[in-house]
Parts: sequence; C-alpha cells; structure tokens
Amino acid sequence: MFLQHHLSDFEKWDIKILATDISAKVLTHAMRGAYDPKTVEGLSKEIIGDAFETKKTEEGRYQIHTSLRDKVLFRKYNLVTDPFFFKNRFDMIFCRNVMIYFDDVTRHNLIGRFTTLLQKGSPLFLGSSESLTTHRESLKLLGSSIYQRL
Ligand SMILES: C[S@@+](CC[C@H](N)C(=O)[O-])C[C@H]1O[C@@H](n2cnc3c(N)ncnc32)[C@H](O)[C@@H]1O
Repeated sequence: MFLQHHLSDFEKWDIKILATDISAKVLTHAMRGAYDPKTVEGLSKEIIGDAFETKKTEEGRYQIHTSLRDKVLFRKYNLVTDPFFFKNRFDMIFCRNVMIYFDDVTRHNLIGRFTTLLQKGSPLFLGSSESLTTHRESLKLLGSSIYQRL
C-alpha cells in the first residue's frame, strides 16, 4: 500500500516483499488480507480505492487486491534465532513494534543484522515508540522512527 501510494509508476516496478512472523496464526491471518474496517477507515479514500476490492468480504472486511497480495511472500521466521541468508540486499525494511519484546542485547544484534541487509541509502522503519540508541555510525535518523543506512 505504501509503495503503491508513493510510486507514480508503481506497476512498472518489480516489487517483491518478504513478510515474516514467528507465529503461524499471525501469518495465516496476514495471508488472508482481510482487514477490519476500524484499521482501514483512517486511510485516505484514494488509498482505500487503490488497495482494496470494491466488494467487502461476507464478514464486512476490506479485502486487499490480489495484485498487491501476490507481491508478498509470507514466511514463518524467528528474527532472533533463524539465520539470515539472503542473496540480495533489501531496499527497505519495516520492523514495527516487534523489538519491544526483546532485551537490549537482542535488539542491538538485530539492528546490526538489518543494517548489513540494507542497501546503502535505504530506510529502516521502526515503530513509533522504538528509537535507536546504538548504531548511530551506520544509521541516520531521517524522521520519527525512520532511519537511513549510511
Ligand atoms: C505487536 S505485533 C506488531 C505487528 C505489526 N508489525 C504491527 O506493527 O502492527 C508484534 C509481532 O511480532 C511477532 N514476533 C514476536 N517475536 C518475534 C520473533 N522473535 N521473530 C519474529 N516475529 C516475532 C509477534 O508474533 C507479533 O505478530
């Protein structure tokens, strides 16, 4: 949704998104792509019109367009213990409201891994209450909880 909204030639980009969580239940829910109206109705009419099917689901939920969902690969993954083997670097990473569960050392190590995975100049988006106190030499604060890989 974010990229669709911000890239004028969105359809021309070859976009692949890796979406991970430790919980199979959470992943199943995410894969369904059926959003509670309360979580959608704060978005602009333009975003809602572009990202969701016109017809709601039988439960009255907003259904994400298949064309958007098909860009996402869903994988069960433990950010703390599973190895990071990725062929290419990432153009952006969103990790919002996950590190709140981790201690300082785990958080520090994870940010280090994200830094290595990001292309230079690329952004890392954290949750609004998650600010970084380490890795200042490799991540520059761009805006509220948004950092740029130097
Ligand atoms: C508070 S939710 C945030 C979800 C979403 N990012 C958001 O901002 O709405 C935290 C998520 O982190 C996941 N999580 C917790 N520990 C994790 C770990 N070690 N590896 C991957 N995901 C984890 C939980 O299963 C949960 O879905």
